[in-house]
Amino acid sequence: MERTFSIIKPDATKRNLTGKVNAMIEGAGLRIVAQRRIQMTEAQAKRFYEVHAERPFYGELVEFMTSAPVVVQVLEADNAVAKYREVMGATNPEEADAGTIRKEVALSIGENSVHGSDSQENAAIEIAQFFSEAEIVG
Ligand code: CMP
Repeated sequence: MERTFSIIKPDATKRNLTGKVNAMIEGAGLRIVAQRRIQMTEAQAKRFYEVHAERPFYGELVEFMTSAPVVVQVLEADNAVAKYREVMGATNPEEADAGTIRKEVALSIGENSVHGSDSQENAAIEIAQFFSEAEIVG
């Protein structure tokens, strides 16, 4: 069993789409083994997206991620990282395949409804930023 880290972003929580996104996650066979709705602080968002600090959209990204509550999650499945990236679809919803979360729900490349880890290594780092092992229950 592999784990990945997921965020349901402000554009989705604001539009009452948490349940719809979770239904798509569960429908794809990913198990939600930890979940919390939080208001991300600027410090949390800056740290989480540190890898993008030099990108022109970094400021906008941090502002967006702190603009409304998000739902942070740990998802578990065989090949969870790759499976969730498939379920999410391309970063830019215009390029996302039909039936993916971003195609069905996302508004733009910035307001793209969900985040998912891009590797097992980053999944472990990202999960540890928001959850203790005791909070993750399969
Ligand atoms: P995410 O998977 O959370 O990881 C980094 C995020 O940066 C990405 O999703 C997008 O929401 C955001 N992003 C990437 N490219 C752009 C862009 N050109 N403009 C605004 N946001 C972007």
